[in-house]
Amino acid sequence: MSYTTIQLEERAHYSIISLHRPDKLNALNATLLQELHKAIMICQDSKECKAIIITGTGIKAFAAGADIAQLHQQNKESGYIFAREGQDVFTAIEQCNKPVIAAVNGFALGGGCELAMACHIRFASSTAKFGQPEVNLGIIPGYGGTQRLTLLVGPAKSAELILTGAIISAEQALSIGLVNSVHSPEELMPYAIDCAEIIASKAPLAITASLKSIRASIELNASDGMEFEAKSFAETCGTSDFKEGTLAFLEKRSANFTGN
Ligand code: COA
Repeated sequence: MSYTTIQLEERAHYSIISLHRPDKLNALNATLLQELHKAIMICQDSKECKAIIITGTGIKAFAAGADIAQLHQQNKESGYIFAREGQDVFTAIEQCNKPVIAAVNGFALGGGCELAMACHIRFASSTAKFGQPEVNLGIIPGYGGTQRLTLLVGPAKSAELILTGAIISAEQALSIGLVNSVHSPEELMPYAIDCAEIIASKAPLAITASLKSIRASIELNASDGMEFEAKSFAETCGTSDFKEGTLAFLEKRSANFTGN
């Protein structure tokens, strides 16, 4: 499969997807969204891939938002489809059975910030900038931003960011819980790769079950969430990797997980 707007690098235990429109600060056009969706599905179906890192090509941008040239063409009818198509791609990332790590290396604005928020873990370069500046264009975030930002930072901070269109630094993003940690530009990818490698060394079925159970805490009420967790826990108790992991501990050796 060849791509024109992303690059997919499949390594031994994890894959790196780079948003690749450097002359347009990796702005998300329709082709990029389709290619990103395709790449996520390939990683999801791959036996070798245990974690996915999404980053942007170049040092300036993760993604500077939806492509404003394409955005300008929208009207009331097409705008709905435009939003829904982007939402579908980001929901596929959020629901991916492998952990998706955003390595935010520069501007993450509008759809770029929304993409980072759809990932399970966010690491930022100290040079990264975050924001939902859609009000400057006469629109609102449409790729899940009003929902995910509010969930992540609470309604008041979400309102401040969305209503003012403010652009904030990586340190500010860290202080409001929008990113997990901040790293020097040189350390960002090594840190993200270390995290992917650590995850890849764990029992794959437990990783997927953890992701689904964490998701349930958002989608279900507290009591249904507990029920979901107990059932998922029981499922993992039925796996070979559970027997191997617990036996390895008792035998004081490293576990050899097979994903079964
Ligand atoms: N859509 C389409 N093109 C974009 C873009 C976007 N969201 N963001 C940047 N670009 C393009 C610029 O048009 C420019 O293209 P050109 O060289 O062909 O003119 C190129 O990327 C470089 O951007 P430029 O604005 O010259 O860089 P800068 O360093 O001066 O400013 C930003 C960087 C991020 C502050 C500025 O590009 C910006 O505000 N982008 C839009 C952010 C936004 O509103 N995103 C939300 C969209 S819903």
